[in-house]
Amino acid sequence: MSFPKDFLWGVSTSATQIEGAYDEDGKCLSIRDCLPEGKIKNNENAKIACDHYHLYKKDVALLKELGVKSYRFSINMSRIMPLYDEINERGLEFYSKLVDELLANGIEPIVTLYHWDMPFWLYEMGGWRTRKVVKYFEIYAKAVVEKLSDRVKYWITFNEPSCFLFNGYVQGVHAPFIKNPLLISKISRNFFHANAAVTRAIRKYAKEKPLVGLSFATSPKVPETESKEDIEKARQITFETPSGILANTWFLDPILAKKPAKVYGIYRVSKKTCEECYEPLDFIGLNNYAPFVDYTSKEKPTYEWTNMLGWENNGKGLYWLTRFVYERYHMPLMITENGLPLKEELKEGKVHDEERIRYIKEYLVNLERAINEGVPVLGYSYWSFMDNFERAEGYEPRFGLVYVDYKNEERYFKDSAYYYKDIIATSGKKLEE
Ligand code: BGC
Repeated sequence: MSFPKDFLWGVSTSATQIEGAYDEDGKCLSIRDCLPEGKIKNNENAKIACDHYHLYKKDVALLKELGVKSYRFSINMSRIMPLYDEINERGLEFYSKLVDELLANGIEPIVTLYHWDMPFWLYEMGGWRTRKVVKYFEIYAKAVVEKLSDRVKYWITFNEPSCFLFNGYVQGVHAPFIKNPLLISKISRNFFHANAAVTRAIRKYAKEKPLVGLSFATSPKVPETESKEDIEKARQITFETPSGILANTWFLDPILAKKPAKVYGIYRVSKKTCEECYEPLDFIGLNNYAPFVDYTSKEKPTYEWTNMLGWENNGKGLYWLTRFVYERYHMPLMITENGLPLKEELKEGKVHDEERIRYIKEYLVNLERAINEGVPVLGYSYWSFMDNFERAEGYEPRFGLVYVDYKNEERYFKDSAYYYKDIIATSGKKLEE
């Protein structure tokens, strides 16, 4: 066996990171448009980004040239809900045209409903600190699903709750930059209710049978050796230690197994929340860049290979992640993000990104191993289709297969784009070279 015939070879992006047009066609400001001074490297912002809002047709043509079978993108909630329960038809129209363009080019759309672009008015109402968010997410999901579900089958409710809740409200490193660990249980509870409401809304209003998932940020401990003891130890670290719970189990267990979670004695997801919010998903979306990091350890780990943001690169992580997650939850998986940032320059229209080629190869070889051992994986989306605006780091880290020249918004295939194209065209055989 190898990669399945209908494997969704794809790439991933998110709205704010590529679209620009931050105040056009009725869009309201989001938490990522209202960035406090000094929070983003070089004080950069995503007002124009890759100008994908205006260049989407050109971008779909590039997707086609790359040969992808699927494209995972997100809807910017601030385009759809300018104020309270008002729905902005022009915002919906943009995504509707994008879906049509994808389908006309034989590309399966995978739609993420929320990739961190909460309307600023909703944040001012309390954001994740108030249960009121649930109602608005439900209205939002209904509007999008009614518009697109005659053509969209794959839905992702939320992207990386651990990041938008913990980075945004607990550690204060990403928008909206709140630092308050005491919020952990409350914002999580509000999120679990929102996720249940969104999942139910998709199923209720979809015109075609939807397949619903959620993209979890996940990081597995890679076993020291492949002995039974080491594997069990790694599994235990991944799911049962305080860092493992916060990185993985906190969201996975309640959503996928209706199982409460607890960490450090005071933070908990209750049995009641699990029962009220349990709504089985069709697949588990996994975002993975690096293996597990023990944040409680005083020793600074050393890695053989790291990226420019200091994260460990280790393809074995993708094998152990998919195996551990499948063995725990027994559900189909989809890799919704995985990729490498580099500092890059365009030279004579080319970018020779050997390191990214090595990265893609290593991670995909390990994913193939898991598939060969029987783990059901529906697809793989490289992050990212093109260079874009990175969380708090602005435009310096370039994750794309496609280079974006921000001076004139020209796009160029990097060497890795040609490599990935060959992988897709050969259903993975290229990885044997
Ligand atoms: C996020 C992306 C981000 C990427 C690289 C993921 O956590 O979903 O928005 O750009 O990681 O940091």
